[in-house]
Amino acid sequence: MNNPRKQIVAGNWKMNMNFQEGCTLAAEVVKGFSYDGTVEVILAPPFIHQAAVAEILRGREGIWLAGQNCHQEASGAFTGEISADMLRSVGARYVILGHSERRQYFGEDDELLRSKVDRALQSGLEVIFCCGESLEIREAGTHFDFVAGQIEKALFHLSEEQMQHVVLAYEPIWAIGTGKTASPEQAQAMHAHLRKRVEAQYGPAFAERQTILYGGSCKPANARELFSQPDVDGGLIGGASLKANDFLSICASF
Ligand code: PGA
Repeated sequence: MNNPRKQIVAGNWKMNMNFQEGCTLAAEVVKGFSYDGTVEVILAPPFIHQAAVAEILRGREGIWLAGQNCHQEASGAFTGEISADMLRSVGARYVILGHSERRQYFGEDDELLRSKVDRALQSGLEVIFCCGESLEIREAGTHFDFVAGQIEKALFHLSEEQMQHVVLAYEPIWAIGTGKTASPEQAQAMHAHLRKRVEAQYGPAFAERQTILYGGSCKPANARELFSQPDVDGGLIGGASLKANDFLSICASF
């Protein structure tokens, strides 16, 4: 198959796994995953695990490290924060930005996310940018415009060159950690809509190459059907990324 887009399965561990458990999990994933030139795997452990997981991934093909967040400033008096340069310096290639939990619990809005995106790209990180609507917004029927608005506000100031370093992740909030997955049709409809918006801004050839992941209760039992949708290029996995076997089976779902 000649797919113009990068296919990715990313594991967002969130605030789970102590250091030893995290290292064991990373080692199990490394052991069970073999890169065949198609699907790439990304692990996003907590900050404190990053350097050790980077060592575990060293020299392995097709498997990358990501931060779960970074600060918008380059450095300075921001007690408790982690910079994009720090992530880069331990070997992270990606950073997740705009996750709904960051928006909801830490008050991150479109304007802040825009500056985080800029900082991450300046530091040489690639961005996994999350977007998604609440149940209220879906029920009101305004979800397509709402989600497209999130990417327009935080990303569409980027040049085409910069935007090449951004992966989109559609994560309906009502599906995150709830066991309630979006149906393959619901995911496909939103992904196609986002691709159209990317096309309007960056042109058709660019949009064809834009990777768009789905996230929200993705698991071995539903990954294959989700990933078989024409505009779904992989997944951002929370709960099911904490068990090596489940995560590896999702990676093998294309
Ligand atoms: P979940 O989380 O797979 O546990 O629903 C997905 C995410 O928040 O990235």
